[in-house]
Amino acid sequence: MNNPLLQAKNIIKTYNEDKIRTNVLKGVNIDIYSNELTAIVGKSGSGKSTLLHILGTLDKADSGEIIYKGEELLKLSDKKKAAFRNIHLGFVYQFHHLLSDFSALENVMMPMLIAGINKNDAKQRALELLEKVALSEKADSRPSELSGGQRQRVAIARALANNPELILADEPTGNLDEKNAQMVFSLFEKLVKEDKIAVVIVTHDNSLSEKCDRVYTMKDGIIHE
Ligand SMILES: Nc1ncnc2c1ncn2[C@@H]1O[C@H](COP(=O)(O)OP(=O)(O)OP(=O)(O)O)[C@@H](O)[C@H]1O
Ligand SMILES: [Mg+2]
Repeated sequence: MNNPLLQAKNIIKTYNEDKIRTNVLKGVNIDIYSNELTAIVGKSGSGKSTLLHILGTLDKADSGEIIYKGEELLKLSDKKKAAFRNIHLGFVYQFHHLLSDFSALENVMMPMLIAGINKNDAKQRALELLEKVALSEKADSRPSELSGGQRQRVAIARALANNPELILADEPTGNLDEKNAQMVFSLFEKLVKEDKIAVVIVTHDNSLSEKCDRVYTMKDGIIHE
């Protein structure tokens, strides 16, 4: 079997708020493979989002290791972590977080412009990505002019902007009806199969998680495959 793209080892995370300690992750181990669609499931409050943020270096663990292609990420400086995220990762959330004053096309161009790609190249690639998510005809529409499923597909196109190797998606279909949820899920399946991108999806929807290649369940601070 091939090596994991990303490995989390013995991740421990505790929140301290108002003198209340919440032991959210009590030694979590997880392996993420390229060419696989991985699901993380579990009850509300079980720590799925916390884990996803730690995997994506957006949040710090108290202890443990995150190893990406053999490199230990938690030791990197904040600046290096930000560069790592920009180069390797794409994030998709339950709420699309698109910029309301910009068109679909401009939203998809944004991460490329931030990464220093020139405007013409960014536009060309953004058009290709919108075509990939079947939204070419909505390139000039603002988020408010799109349906929930369409917005989520723009958010996925944006997550793909810098050619990530790994997409971390936190309940990307949580806000969608069944038909749109299925459409967004199929898109993730396609990214895994055709583009060899690793996708991790947190979901409450069993009909989706059972179609994933690997399913992890969070319970009582521990994860089970
Ligand atoms: N910033 C924070 N400060 C204190 N406690 C937090 C913080 N973020 C999360 N928690 C707590 O950690 C636990 C796990 O939260 P998390 O958001 O990871 O759960 P989840 O599995 O994603 O839940 P949901 O399915 O509802 O999204 C919860 O008990 C939550 O209250
Ligand atoms: Mg959550």
